[in-house]
Amino acid sequence: MQGIKNIGLRGIPIADTRICAIDGEKGRLVYRGYDIFDLARNSTFEETSYLLLYETLPGKKELEIFRDTLASQRRLPAGIVRHLKKRKKTAHSMDVLQSVVPMLADFDPDARVDTRASSIKKGMKLIARIATLVAYWDRIRKNLDPIRPDEKLGHAANFLYMLKGEIPDKEMARDLDICFIVHAEHSFNASTFAAREVASTRANMYSCVSAALGALSGELHGGANEEVMKMLSEIDNINRVEKWIKARLDAGGLIMGMGHAVYKTMDPRARILKDISERLAERTGNRKWFELSRKIEAVAREEFMIRKGKEIYSNVDFYSPSIYCDMGIDPDLFTPVFAAARMPGWCAHIIEEKFAEAQPKPALYRPDAEYIGRYCGNEGCEYTLLEERE
Ligand code: ACO
Repeated sequence: MQGIKNIGLRGIPIADTRICAIDGEKGRLVYRGYDIFDLARNSTFEETSYLLLYETLPGKKELEIFRDTLASQRRLPAGIVRHLKKRKKTAHSMDVLQSVVPMLADFDPDARVDTRASSIKKGMKLIARIATLVAYWDRIRKNLDPIRPDEKLGHAANFLYMLKGEIPDKEMARDLDICFIVHAEHSFNASTFAAREVASTRANMYSCVSAALGALSGELHGGANEEVMKMLSEIDNINRVEKWIKARLDAGGLIMGMGHAVYKTMDPRARILKDISERLAERTGNRKWFELSRKIEAVAREEFMIRKGKEIYSNVDFYSPSIYCDMGIDPDLFTPVFAAARMPGWCAHIIEEKFAEAQPKPALYRPDAEYIGRYCGNEGCEYTLLEERE
């Protein structure tokens, strides 16, 4: 039997959305009508989260209330902290996140209240708490006491504070804030699609986010940032880049953090992150990871052109590792940091999937597949009883 070529739904529109637009040819990314460069320059993660959840930019008072509400919801229920303390310290942070997020439903009496207003409230709780979850887990696994969130700090600054126990300087906090903004949303990528697919069954919001976390953890998606750090550490020296890249491509391997299913030019988020990485390298005096990343990018592009006759560009996961490393974040937290930043995007999509005003309403996802397995004619294969089989 012939079967169909699995193209991973590339280029097949499956829904209407008002949340995000991507022009892969021009390298444009727009959240709710606002260009990512504009948001990275002028917005904050809190304001961008409001924009994604409520569809418009907030007024001053609205933003103040939104920020205060987020800050007041950062604390984790004691039952969750007790659970984290019982986890195996060697568990991967993404596995911990994916399994603990649905437990947040145990502590939310509105977990199964399926209205738009209640879902926005749950979205805010998730945005506020996931950063605490990542920071608490990191400290607990290192046998350190978790640090209570500080309501006076912004989301990004508070995350670094809970991780390290020191209030970061303004520049570093702002750099992480921009990282959070550029990771906040990206249309129907694999994890968002997973969230929407689960939302289409009317499952509760925590389940939808848990599905998204599972999809994000894979190395072809959000897990690529941890893999990029492994590549940087393995190469370690700028003089080894060429040999390493050639050997990797000769063996049919992937250069992690490069290539994209949608962008056919440089990912605009990679442009923004490259600037931050360079800025941070200059500020800290530690240029190693930035220089190594830049060299890998140049060599990989050249080699790719020689071998395939076409361009390959860095994606969102290429320069974030050098940034997070310079901020003192452990490599296996890179994907959880991505997840924390993506929470407003996932929540906006779950809400759109469940409560779209457009008609017809989104249907339960149920794609088809071409059966290419065993076939014994219309009667089906003859079932032989176990005792009659060899
Ligand atoms: N290294 C080596 N070869 C690559 C890479 C790469 N990073 N990216 C694409 N290619 C190859 C593909 O294998 C394909 O080869 P083929 O024609 O021999 O089959 C060819 O280039 C064309 O690929 P595209 O159609 O442009 O990309 P595709 O949609 O197949 O893959 C993907 C996109 C999965 C992201 C791929 O580029 C990849 O695996 N990159 C590395 C992993 C990564 O960085 N993932 C993060 C993506 S961003 C995100 O999800 C947050």
